[in-house]
Amino acid sequence: MQPLPEQMQTAVVTGGARGLGAEICRALHRAGFRVVIADVNPGEEALALASELDLAGESAITATLDVAKPEDFQTVLDKCVERWGSVEVLVNNAARTAVKPVLEIDPAEFNAVLAVNAGGTFAGSQIFGRHFKERGYGRIVNLASLAGQNGGTATGAHYAASKGAILTLTKVFARDLAPFGITCNAIAPGPMDTPMVRSVITPEKMQSALAGIPVGELGDPVFVAELVALLAGAKASFVTGACWDVNGGIYMR
Ligand SMILES: NC(=O)c1ccc[n+]([C@@H]2O[C@H](COP(=O)([O-])OP(=O)(O)OC[C@H]3O[C@@H](n4cnc5c(N)ncnc54)[C@H](O)[C@@H]3O)[C@@H](O)[C@H]2O)c1
Repeated sequence: MQPLPEQMQTAVVTGGARGLGAEICRALHRAGFRVVIADVNPGEEALALASELDLAGESAITATLDVAKPEDFQTVLDKCVERWGSVEVLVNNAARTAVKPVLEIDPAEFNAVLAVNAGGTFAGSQIFGRHFKERGYGRIVNLASLAGQNGGTATGAHYAASKGAILTLTKVFARDLAPFGITCNAIAPGPMDTPMVRSVITPEKMQSALAGIPVGELGDPVFVAELVALLAGAKASFVTGACWDVNGGIYMR
């Protein structure tokens, strides 16, 4: 059951308080979606973003959601359904980045990063996927990473492995949910110009980092956010199980 064009659709964005997640909330809101800024730590930044998007608090709200806790996904979904009747879009954006050489990562830390990044995407897709299946319509967009494709360890082997898992989960959910009007896609960004990347690539390292990117610049987070909005739209019905590379030419296939 495709939503009627005049109905405002609801999108839940995990990790929406800052960085790329905040840009995704802005892009979805510009595209006409009601946005739920869901974050483990919504805080001042999320509240400021919600007021920036809609002072009245009708079409942009914040929610506390830890992606490592499946019950949080269920609570947010239930609250949205109670308030607006349905949810149409889930963006699995939240992730933990932990820069550490591979030989120094404690196995428990490896598991903890996997649990948040891949476990969160699994739980969110499963819980929202059930709702979407019941309604006969839905869009899931997962934030993967170049690191999950090329084995890059600049952001940690646990992070890279979790992003590889997210790419596989994208195909699994896409295949399973395709007959029910639901699409599931991933975006694999290379280094974007975000606070997270600027904290990893310090000014001293920037020149050599840019030399390793064929187009010679960091990626624009607004472009990735607009790609999320494109994939979240009703018109994107024929694309599913895909990984959209946005990496400045670092990895071509
Ligand atoms: N920035 C980049 O260049 C880049 C490149 C490739 C992929 N990505 C992916 O894009 C996404 C966003 O990246 P970013 O740079 O904005 O990251 P970030 O670290 O700046 O922001 C992550 C957000 O997720 C939230 N978060 C962390 N743990 C959470 C949890 N357990 N539950 C809910 N929220 C949680 C944080 O509070 C924060 O608001 C991530 O999935 C990241 O892996 C980013």
